[in-house]
Amino acid sequence: MVPLLLILILSCFIGASQGLQVGFYANTCPNAESIVRRVVSEAAASEQNAPPVLLRLHFHDCFVNGCDGSILITTGLETDEKSAFGHQGVQGFEIIERAKAQLEATCPGIVSCADIVALAARDAVFLTNGPLYEVPTGRRDGLVSNKSLADNMPDITDSIDTLKAKFSEKGLSGMDLVLLSSAHTIGTTACFFMTNRLYEFTAGGGSDPSINPGFLPELKATCPQNGNPNTRLAMDRGSGQTFDKQILQNIRSGFAVLETDARLYEDVATKRVVDSYFGFFSPVLGPSFEADFAKAMVKMGEIGVLTGSEGEIRRLSVVNLNKIFEQIAGDDCFQDIFCVAKISDPVKLSASRTKSTAWNCDGSNLLCNSTSSSNCSPWPVGLFGEQKKMISVLAVYVRSGKKLSSGPHSIYAIF
Ligand code: HEM
Repeated sequence: MVPLLLILILSCFIGASQGLQVGFYANTCPNAESIVRRVVSEAAASEQNAPPVLLRLHFHDCFVNGCDGSILITTGLETDEKSAFGHQGVQGFEIIERAKAQLEATCPGIVSCADIVALAARDAVFLTNGPLYEVPTGRRDGLVSNKSLADNMPDITDSIDTLKAKFSEKGLSGMDLVLLSSAHTIGTTACFFMTNRLYEFTAGGGSDPSINPGFLPELKATCPQNGNPNTRLAMDRGSGQTFDKQILQNIRSGFAVLETDARLYEDVATKRVVDSYFGFFSPVLGPSFEADFAKAMVKMGEIGVLTGSEGEIRRLSVVNLNKIFEQIAGDDCFQDIFCVAKISDPVKLSASRTKSTAWNCDGSNLLCNSTSSSNCSPWPVGLFGEQKKMISVLAVYVRSGKKLSSGPHSIYAIF
């Protein structure tokens, strides 16, 4: 039997202050930041795309319901925020999970998942040669995950006015838009996001005329029409793995890869911001791209944060009922076996599995008050956020009557 998951609810009242502060965990978990840094460095050493995916994850977390770690919640329900169209391709969850596991082992119930995401993004920037900046911490984790909240994510085909409006709604300026878009100095995009720009930009099937004519054949060769939409290409031509302002130079010269990056040079105000980093005396007397980027990241990291006694310190970075079930029932439930859990306190359970739901492998949702299937009655799928409670699974059985596991296993779950 796979080791059992024991997750306890803790009342967490850490710090009475509203608002974030640098070094928030200095007393409660002094190694918090170094633990995150180590996990991110290890990930970057084995996976080249770890830094960019972590940087992107922070953006996607902050732009939906604030920087509250809600993008990490996985219940298996179709309504999960992470399954939103606007979050396509977002990754890095397992790296955050690894950091969370180490932090829980060191200082249980102290460090929020939202803070881990913000710290990991900072470390990602530094690891790719970017600036090292201090991240105010003290975020708490959100309780809501709903993909409709992600309907308004910035989209690759948004006009510059729409982009500015979407950033402004989050308290970010046009300058922040330029600086934060410069995060595309590292990482790659899938050809999927290039189709419009290369083959559907004009009514006659033409390309975006802002693409430098010398660059267009290169882009088309990498992303041919009807080619593999998953082929990836660097967003910062020639410098896709290093954090630098080459991305802005590329935007100036028509070498922007993403459509929205190209739009930044077609608006008077955002163009001025881009150009400001290439003044005659730059960077000695002009603004510092690195320092301004760091400031913009800190500002983004403050969007809609929960602090004080709001939200919670989630004990699992990713609440995944399927995973919890697997830990209790092992592989048996991947087969067509009936599994029954006796649950001490009746709750609605819902999670999708290949051909079943979390606690019942025959495809229906059941509420079981006993270890016998005959005592189970159909139970409607609950809405996420409706209930949040501790359940105690007393035992898990399969149809044959074989007892897979004895409990009680205490599981803190959100439904
Ligand atoms: C202005 C609105 C933005 C749009 C429309 C946008 C869009 C995109 C798209 C389409 C991709 C490629 C995704 C993929 O193929 O997996 C991408 C990648 C990325 N984005 Fe953005 N983005 C925006 C702003 C930001 C911001 C504010 C940040 C961070 C501060 C950011 C960081 C990244 C990073 C680092 C990647 C590379 C991810 C990887 O290599 O897997 N983006 N973005």
